[in-house]
Amino acid sequence: MEIAGSVALVSGANRGLGAAFCRALLEAGASKVYAGARDIDAVGLPGVIPVRLDITSPADVAAAASECGDVSLLINNAGILTGAGVFSEDAMAAGRREFETNVFGPLALTRAFAPILGSNGGGAVINVLSVLSWLSNPGAAFYCASKAASWSLTNAMRQDLHAQHTHVMALHVGLMETDMAARLRGSKSSPDEVASQALAGIQAGAFEVLADETSRRVRSGLSADLTVLYPSLAPVVGA
Ligand SMILES: NC(=O)c1ccc[n+]([C@@H]2O[C@H](COP(=O)([O-])OP(=O)(O)OC[C@H]3O[C@@H](n4cnc5c(N)ncnc54)[C@H](OP(=O)(O)O)[C@@H]3O)[C@@H](O)[C@H]2O)c1
Repeated sequence: MEIAGSVALVSGANRGLGAAFCRALLEAGASKVYAGARDIDAVGLPGVIPVRLDITSPADVAAAASECGDVSLLINNAGILTGAGVFSEDAMAAGRREFETNVFGPLALTRAFAPILGSNGGGAVINVLSVLSWLSNPGAAFYCASKAASWSLTNAMRQDLHAQHTHVMALHVGLMETDMAARLRGSKSSPDEVASQALAGIQAGAFEVLADETSRRVRSGLSADLTVLYPSLAPVVGA
């Protein structure tokens, strides 16, 4: 689909990658950009329309769907990272929070907007996933599990919405220069660069955009022996 002339809704649009998506959409000529945010006063970008949207709130999701009936591009961007692992003290509560936001939030938004996208000609959905959809890090086990679940649901939605000509694209990326990754070490992509790659992917009809080398390496490692992605599990030679 063409970004120029499209009407987009971005969740978590007040900062990080969501704000970068809003800038990229305006630059690419989107005719309207709804900036979904829990706190609409935190949306500072001129040219967007702030929409109150906590993606875990059924009332907010329903209100956004009735307020934004002209949307042709839904960008499920909002997400959280708690850092809870399987054996963390707060594992059960933190893991549930992560699933509510990273899995059930985008799912609820997509379910609410699917009929709108269909009646506006099909349009597209971008689900912001992660390289961690394919790789588990024990220090963020529930985040990884939530992105893996969301990847699976993305593959289901893509098939469900095919008949109504709604294109569903997954965006996978490693670390980015945003608040979420502020305390993490490693090479980080610019969210503006990632947002423009994602919009280029939508224009090209891609099913997946792997926005950095880490995502491409891990994706291709899925068919290898498990020790390629988890080298600490490899037997010690000579032991
Ligand atoms: N940063 C990375 O290295 C990285 C890597 C791979 C994938 N990602 C993914 O990229 C997406 C954007 O993350 P980011 O890096 O931009 O993180 P961020 O800077 O922490 O921003 C997260 C955004 O999500 C919003 N949000 C959180 N919970 C929400 C809820 N219940 N309802 C509505 N909005 C909510 C936040 O709003 P508030 O301001 O109200 O908290 C904020 O706008 C996420 O899906 C994340 O998992 C990030």
